[in-house]
Amino acid sequence: MAEIIVTTRDGSERTLAAKPGLSVMEIIRDAGIDELLALCGGCCSCATCHVYVEAGNAGAAGADEADLLDSSDHKQANSRLSCQIPFTAALDGLRVTIAPED
Ligand code: FES
Repeated sequence: MAEIIVTTRDGSERTLAAKPGLSVMEIIRDAGIDELLALCGGCCSCATCHVYVEAGNAGAAGADEADLLDSSDHKQANSRLSCQIPFTAALDGLRVTIAPED
């Protein structure tokens, strides 16, 4: 089973089983990490699923995603909205940190 490693806001690290076909947001949410609010359910309109990609090639944000990230006070060069990262086997070992709440 593939895995992702998530650092939560208190600095603790969790390794989660990750199934291709889900988004990274869904994997984190389904593991019960509720600080990732994901209020819009993954339709790229809330930015409450903001993460920093620490390791792994999750690609670049799309135009709508980049616009939403621009509205965050906590945007960094490695910011992504986790609902916009489809998990694939190639992302096994992806490391993300949950961004501070806006
Ligand atoms: S869950 Fe709302 S933008 Fe990702």
